[in-house]
Order: sequence, then C-alpha cells, then structure tokens
Amino acid sequence: MRMNADIGVIGLAVMGQNLILNMNDNGYKVVAYNRTTAKVDQFLEGPAKGTNIVGAHSLAQLVAQLSVPRKVMLMVRAGTVVDDFIQALLPLLDEGDIIIDGGNSNFPDSNRRMTELAEHGIHFVGTGVSGGELGARFGPSLMPGGAAAAWPALKPIFQSIAAKTDAGEPCCDWVGAAGSGHFVKMVHNGIEYGDMQLICECYQFMQAGLGLNAAQMQQVFSDWNDSELNSYLIEITADILAVKDDDGAPLLDKILDTAGQKGTGKWTGINALDLGIPLTLISEAVFARCLSALKDQRQQAQQLFGADISAVSGDRAEWLEALRQALLAAKIISYAQGFMLMREASEQNHWDLNFGNVAMMWRGGCIIRSAFLGNIRDAFESDPQLPFLGLDPYFKQILQQSLPAWRKVAAKAIESGIPMPCMTAALSFLDGYLCGRLPANLLQAQRDYFGAHTYERVDRPRGEFFHTDWTGSGGDVASTTYDA
Ligand code: 6PG
Repeated sequence: MRMNADIGVIGLAVMGQNLILNMNDNGYKVVAYNRTTAKVDQFLEGPAKGTNIVGAHSLAQLVAQLSVPRKVMLMVRAGTVVDDFIQALLPLLDEGDIIIDGGNSNFPDSNRRMTELAEHGIHFVGTGVSGGELGARFGPSLMPGGAAAAWPALKPIFQSIAAKTDAGEPCCDWVGAAGSGHFVKMVHNGIEYGDMQLICECYQFMQAGLGLNAAQMQQVFSDWNDSELNSYLIEITADILAVKDDDGAPLLDKILDTAGQKGTGKWTGINALDLGIPLTLISEAVFARCLSALKDQRQQAQQLFGADISAVSGDRAEWLEALRQALLAAKIISYAQGFMLMREASEQNHWDLNFGNVAMMWRGGCIIRSAFLGNIRDAFESDPQLPFLGLDPYFKQILQQSLPAWRKVAAKAIESGIPMPCMTAALSFLDGYLCGRLPANLLQAQRDYFGAHTYERVDRPRGEFFHTDWTGSGGDVASTTYDA
C-alpha cells in the first residue's frame, strides 16, 4: 500500500466530499481534512468507507501524508477562510509545494494569493470548479489558472476527474496566469445568470402571455432540448416543471418569486463596467434578480397601477417557435458579450486566454454545458481573434434567420407588459452593434456644450479633438480629454 497520498483536500462540505470520492474513483489517494474534525470521521465512516481515502485531524497530519510536491486543495468558502488556511499551511509546506483554491473566489484575491505565495516558493492555483454536487462527484468542469509550474503535477489528477466531451476530451485545461482561472469561472457564472434569466423570461411569456400550464411548458422545454438549445439548464427546467407538490399542483407555483445570488454575476457586471465592455445581458440578469427581491414593493405597485399582463393572441405553435428562435439568438448575444469581456481581460492582464479551450472546458460538466458550446469552440478554432461571436458564419446565419421572430417576441412582450429585460437588451445590443452610426455624435456635442469635453470630427483624423463655443458666451478653453 502506498503511504504517501497524491493530494490533500480541505473542506468536507458537499463539493469537497464529492471531489475526493471522484479522485478516489480515478485511482488517486486522497487525504481529507475539515476544521470540524468530527466531519472527517463521519466522512471516513460514511461515504468514504471501503475506499483508499484517509483522514487527518490536523493540517500537520494532512501535510505529513502527502507525496512531494505536496498538493493541497481548498474546498472552503471563498473569502477570508481561504487566506486563513493558506496562512496556517505556509509553515508546514516547502518550496515547490502547491496550494489550490477550488472555491468561487474573486479573481483579484487569486492574483494576490499567487504573488504572496510565490514569495515563499509555493505555487498557487486558483481553479474554477463547476457542475454542482453531481458534477464534482462524476465529472466537473475545471478551470485552473495561476502558477504554471504547478500544472504538470496537477494535470493528470484534474484531467482524469473532469467531465469529458463526447469525443473524450477532458473539460479541463490550463487557463492561464494568476487569477485567470477564477476570472473564467466568474464569467461562466455570469453566463449562467444570463441563460437562467432568459429561460425564466420565456417561461413567463408562455405562462402569463400564452396561457400554457406546467405540463405544456414541460413539453415545450423538452422539445427545445432536442434543438440547437440542447443544454443542461433547458433540461432541468423541463424536469422542474414536472415536479408536483403534495397537493398535486406544480411545486414551481408554490415557490416565492425572489431570487438569491452569491455575487459572481455581480462581479462579472462590475468587471465589464471596469473594462468598458457592453455586457448588457448578464448585467440585466443580475438586476432582474435584484428587482425580483423587491417583492413587497412590486406587489404594492401592481395594485396601485392595476397592472396586469395581457394575453398573447395568435397561433400558439407559431409563437412558441418564435420564442425558441428568440431565445437562441439572445443566448448567442450573451455568450458573445461574455467572450468579449474575457478577451479584454486577457489583453489587459496578458493572460493569453485560448477561447476555443475555454469553450471546450464548458462543453461538459458545468452548469452552462450545452451542444452550443461545441459550435463556439469551432468558431474560435477557426478564428482565435474573433472579436464578436456573431461574426462567425454559423452564428451570423442563426442571428440573421432569427431576427424577425426575435423582434416579434420582443415587441409583443413590450406591448403585453411581459418583462423580458435580457431578451430585449440583447436585441438592442445587436441593433447597436450593427449600427455603423450611433447617436453618440449628439452625446459628444452635449458633453462639449456643457463641459467643453471636446469631440472628434468625421472629416478629420481620429485623435484630433475640437471644442465649439456653442452659445457664443463660452470660452475657448477645452477640458482635458481622457476616457475612463
Ligand atoms: C457552478 C455554479 C456554482 C453555484 C453558483 C450559484 O458552476 O457549479 O455556478 O458555482 O451554484 O455560484 O450562484 P448564485 O447563488 O449566485 O446563483
């Protein structure tokens, strides 16, 4: 029997336990540790019984059982708990050892941790782990980034426990330097927010607009899952619609309509604002959750306005096909915006992200896994520098074909009072992106009028700035020209 374990995992909540069991299934010997050590014993006596998994009652015991270079993976709550464990591990580790953070950490924290640990000769890896508890148990999507020197030691473990594409490729590859792994996981979660909100908007259109019941909607989502929309989130939506409460009514109808959020969608929006990327769909999805949380206010306002959603008349099957096309088109915009954000972050941070690989890592195992990601991978493989996914021939054709249906759905939603913030924001974005001349000339004139902020001219080279004394009573002095 081998005395030295391949990897130590700290944190025995559901994700930690399932990752350990997954590693064990793949032939790796794992040492499990949890701050409340009773949990270690419960795990060893419970799910880990009869496996090669061993336990530790202290960090020193954990580290003592590891082969060199020691690999310690933290599966604990993001934030200060991660820093606390890193501090506690530091005196126990040697140069060349590896600390992995598998939580949903904010990527600037991973940047900082990598730099701090490098000063001690320790390699830090921040990895996205997606797929929920079942993913962790049977094949998650893993997005590791940080100290590249750690990758050769981690690669066999990570790629064997990861989900596999239909072609057998692991949904895990090296993402890039510093916090890039956690950045990519953050964008994954932002896209997850967008996909979920788009599905919710279609659900409301079907239920409140078209008057479909749960069984009918379950059928629609099942049918959609056999189309280009095939994805985990569409599949679970159909499943959810089939679940009944004790009284036989759909359980979904009994669930309070206020959404929670743990922050990764918000971070995605904040980063988009910081980097100047028009990430409109994901941002709307975050705000839709915020609006949903204002339950009391919404109920009062509905009464005060006597507001109600109007029924959508017309051929139901035609509307459902229009809705399907609108959903697909809006989803393309969401992913296009997400990849624009990653592209900008990659450039600014010199991460050199490989977008085809990112799509491949998301192809299986994770919450946004879908057939569609295979097409995204193809798009970036044929043009690694693709600035906007909608310019790829496959996606361009879908967008062009779907536009009439998409406009019809968006217009009907607005007319009927059905809130579709993501569906309509995506359409406005595309209309803006396809507009060679936007009204920003007027905006620049307004800025120059009241603040002498200057403007560029269509008949002069870029980079030359002009100021006009619009009222005849202003001065000649322009404000400094800079962009945030
Ligand atoms: C995943 C999920 C996972 C978690 C989300 C939930 O990839 O497995 O994204 O990370 O379920 O963080 O996020 P909210 O609580 O913000 O919806």
